[in-house]
Amino acid sequence: MKVSFSPKALKEFNSFEGLFDNPKSRLLPTLHLAQREFGHLSTEVIDYVAALLNLPSAKVMQVASFYTMLHKKSVGKYEVTICTNITCAMMKSRELLAHTLKKLNVKEKDMTQDKKFTIRREECLGACDKAPALRINDTYYYNVTPEKLDKILESLPS
Ligand code: FES
Repeated sequence: MKVSFSPKALKEFNSFEGLFDNPKSRLLPTLHLAQREFGHLSTEVIDYVAALLNLPSAKVMQVASFYTMLHKKSVGKYEVTICTNITCAMMKSRELLAHTLKKLNVKEKDMTQDKKFTIRREECLGACDKAPALRINDTYYYNVTPEKLDKILESLPS
């Protein structure tokens, strides 16, 4: 399937040119834009971004693969990212991860059947003083307990 940006996304993409001279500098904002536009970075999307920036597809895939926030496969409407680094692990974030996977009956990085959630672990979210911390899409939550997370997940609209 051939992909292309909507007129609105194309306008945003074109605005990057005024901000960054080098096409390589426009790669990350373009990948974020492409993820917002297409949901995830499929091979077709990677090739499309590479053509837009006149970069090799392998280079674009290399960068996309490095960053965990860039998705190479479909994710749920809500991506729940639980920090399991040392401070959060000491505050039982790994138990929180296991609790959430069991409650939603899903494997890590897979989507729930209703496509609402994807759960995955992450390295430090930079909120060690409020461990355990997690992020749901762009919103951060701190001092999270299994009970608190259950309530948060239940409050999110389908
Ligand atoms: Fe979890 Fe830093 S270790 S936020």
